[in-house]
Amino acid sequence: MTAAQADLASARTAFREMPGDLRLDTPEVTDGAALWRIARDSKTLDLNSSYSYLLWCRDFAGTSVVARDAQGDPVGFITGYIRPERPHTLLVWQVAVDESQRGRGLAAAMLDGLTARIAGAHGLRTVETTITPGNTPSERLFLSYAERHGVPVEREVLFHTEQFPDGDGGHDPEVLYRIGPLSF
Ligand SMILES: CC(C)(COP(=O)(O)OP(=O)(O)OC[C@H]1O[C@@H](n2cnc3c(N)ncnc32)[C@H](O)[C@@H]1OP(=O)(O)O)[C@@H](O)C(=O)NCCC(=O)NCCS
Repeated sequence: MTAAQADLASARTAFREMPGDLRLDTPEVTDGAALWRIARDSKTLDLNSSYSYLLWCRDFAGTSVVARDAQGDPVGFITGYIRPERPHTLLVWQVAVDESQRGRGLAAAMLDGLTARIAGAHGLRTVETTITPGNTPSERLFLSYAERHGVPVEREVLFHTEQFPDGDGGHDPEVLYRIGPLSF
């Protein structure tokens, strides 16, 4: 194998393929209700207002992704935004995969596809997300992303329990994972 072929092979292994029956797409406003349903059914995510998912699909579609089945229906999504004061940092807000599609590498493929898409437009260097302690699937998703891309992960508590309102049912702390520096 030549050096160029080796580089190509290692670049390929850094990206997870989508399951063959699904495809990645940019969300549209008409997907907002389905994203809200997937978030609700996850029973893990903080469920935000249905309005916020519609708004997200309008205003942050460029930094979000949806996975569609053969009928075009959403079966997973990632919502994110570029931090206004850190223009090379993507904050991943929510990731969810319909229960019927879990364990097929879909979340990993969505994260790879989304960050590759954003890299071209924003010179992406860092991915941030927050994870509540004990969410092993989410932790594995992001640690394995960092491993695939050969970059370190820094962790610190971003929001402590006491910072959430009392009425929020005793919210767990949110731990910030900062992944980078990435190169594409
Ligand atoms: C977290 C979630 C998005 C993962 O979706 P998925 O498509 O099943 O994940 P993938 O198949 O792409 O797996 C990604 C990695 O996580 C690991 N993983 C996935 N589910 C796991 C589980 N239940 N336990 C341990 N590891 C798990 C996989 O093994 C894989 O790691 P690897 O690359 O080292 O093999 C999905 O479980 C989900 O929607 N959960 C509810 C919502 C949620 O908690 N979202 C995250 C917080 S924002």
